[in-house]
Amino acid sequence: MKDFLSVSSCTADELLELLDLSDKLKKYYKKGNRDLCLVGKSLVMLFEKPSLRTRMSFQIAMAQLGGHPIYVKPEDIGGIGKREPIKDMARVLDRYANGIMARTFAHETVIELAKFAEIPVINALTDWSHPCQAMADIMTIREHFGKLAGIKIAYIGDGNNVARSLAYGCAKLGMKIVIASPKGYQLDKESIDGTNKIAAGTTTQINNPHDAVKGADVIYTDTWVSMGQEDEKTKRVADFQGFAVDSKLLSEAPKAKIMHCLPAYRGYEITEEAMESANSIVFDEAENRLHFQRALLKKLLSQ
Ligand code: CP
Ligand code: NVA
Repeated sequence: MKDFLSVSSCTADELLELLDLSDKLKKYYKKGNRDLCLVGKSLVMLFEKPSLRTRMSFQIAMAQLGGHPIYVKPEDIGGIGKREPIKDMARVLDRYANGIMARTFAHETVIELAKFAEIPVINALTDWSHPCQAMADIMTIREHFGKLAGIKIAYIGDGNNVARSLAYGCAKLGMKIVIASPKGYQLDKESIDGTNKIAAGTTTQINNPHDAVKGADVIYTDTWVSMGQEDEKTKRVADFQGFAVDSKLLSEAPKAKIMHCLPAYRGYEITEEAMESANSIVFDEAENRLHFQRALLKKLLSQ
């Protein structure tokens, strides 16, 4: 395993190893211990989009492992693939750093970086996927339910990068996901078929959120307007009416845990009541970004 570009490109064993290491390091760090396995190592962090959780958790995880994170805004380097080709950037960074993480619009950008850099490349969100988020989510589910096998996630909303990574995580690790989206916003057929090919019956795509939450262990949602789609906001908000995670929907699955990758837009995809409900585990989920990524950095950069 050189890179971490998508959940779909990892084996179940690799994902489980990362989850187990995340749990182990979480306990170790909470006891006040430190594993300084990355002393003298640097991670270049390229961002084309804003971030709170991903940036902070990677920077802090890197520092906690004794390494050095370098945050790079697109304007600092004249844009990714604009001032110079991505393949040149990758080969230059390869000579300086020990790892690259990138949050980009095009998924092809992280693939190109990984192709031309011999050092590990980590996908910190692209338009196509958000694997670090999905793995922190799965870590959180395993903590709360004590298992993954047989867990049913009802994903309500946009069939986007987060939904895709979660669906592949479900396929690899024995969970099921029912995605309820308005027409035109469903997960692409290739991803649905891809997950069902890994494990038959993993992903079901429907239109009715009320049917989706029946028997669900987890109700998950994400923004209706992902980064880069701001111009479509008015149309999207209109098209997603009826797809909010609200008290009516929660009453149909009263035991289900509520998850959201954050940032949450209250009054749109989720209500204040759902966010603050006793069943909401959104901040455990946000915390686990740090624990998963600390394990990922140790695994990829210390080898
Ligand atoms: N969930 C997540 O990736 O948050 P940020 O966009 O703040 O990094
Ligand atoms: N789907 C969202 C996730 C944000 C963490 C986006 O891509 O903007």
